[in-house]
Amino acid sequence: MKAFLYLPFWFIKTRIFGKKSPLQTVIFISDRCNLQCKHCCVYAQKTVTTKSYQQIAAELRYSYQQGARFVDFEGGEPTMWRDGEQDLNSLIALAKEIGFFSTTITTNAVMPFAGNHADAIWVSIDGFGACHDQIRGEGVFERAIKNIEQSGHPNMSINMVVNALNYMSVDETIEFAKNHPNIQKISINFHTPYAGTEHLMLDWDKRLEVIDKVIAYKRKGYPIMNSVSGLKLMKHNRFKKYCWVSNFILVDGTKSADCGGSALGLCDRCGFCMAGEMNSVMNMKPDTILAGLSLRR
Ligand SMILES: C[S@@+](CC[C@H](N)C(=O)[O-])C[C@H]1O[C@@H](n2cnc3c(N)ncnc32)[C@H](O)[C@@H]1O
Repeated sequence: MKAFLYLPFWFIKTRIFGKKSPLQTVIFISDRCNLQCKHCCVYAQKTVTTKSYQQIAAELRYSYQQGARFVDFEGGEPTMWRDGEQDLNSLIALAKEIGFFSTTITTNAVMPFAGNHADAIWVSIDGFGACHDQIRGEGVFERAIKNIEQSGHPNMSINMVVNALNYMSVDETIEFAKNHPNIQKISINFHTPYAGTEHLMLDWDKRLEVIDKVIAYKRKGYPIMNSVSGLKLMKHNRFKKYCWVSNFILVDGTKSADCGGSALGLCDRCGFCMAGEMNSVMNMKPDTILAGLSLRR
């Protein structure tokens, strides 16, 4: 109930009174990871940083004061995070105590995560079977599926990042998400060409084909998290960015009201479909508002 009262308040504050206040925060808690995915530049860092419980607590309070009410714990691999007796569930409990409405984690699901208390769990699945493994490592798909099945969590979805290596697996991954009893939804994103991973960016023509395909699945009733309005914007990336709706706190503690990609000049090649979703929310597209509410349910 509190969330449903807060959302219109936030919308009026930002859209009508023009205050750039975040609704969600993405906190990178460590860049330690147990995989070396081809499309990711996080693992390639020379040193590994893991934030302390106290630092993350301060960052949660800061984000809450800024207006954020939803938090995503990111990494590295967030399920590996520890600080003495504290683990990821300690951070989730603290976020709730501070007043966040919901907590999310994004995981590669290599380690078991049964008993995780996040409200929603996003599992990164970048293709079906061998296609996922060619990006993330041999045997990783099987382990992820085993851990999804053993976790018993009621709100798990898949995040697929489409790139030059896996675009041909979009259909089977969407079918897989639809048919798997433990998976609620699938979110489609595209590779963003951070330094060293430029070669994995999908050709723009293929990206358009994939977007049309995903829209067709969505219209057929498949459990696609993206909205049609948001996906259409991702066809050209020429739209006003409202990425400050999320604030980002990087692993070195840098607080940014914008995604790191914008400082690197990547907005025109950005693949994070949240950018299109945020524009569509701000322009009051009903399908995106419904998708957003279902995401934060
Ligand atoms: C950096 S990972 C960290 C969380 C966790 N280790 C995992 O693999 O899900 C978070 C998400 O970012 C995605 N990602 C990594 N590199 C990307 C890129 N260059 N473009 C778009 N998404 C990317 C991953 O596929 C994953 O879904």
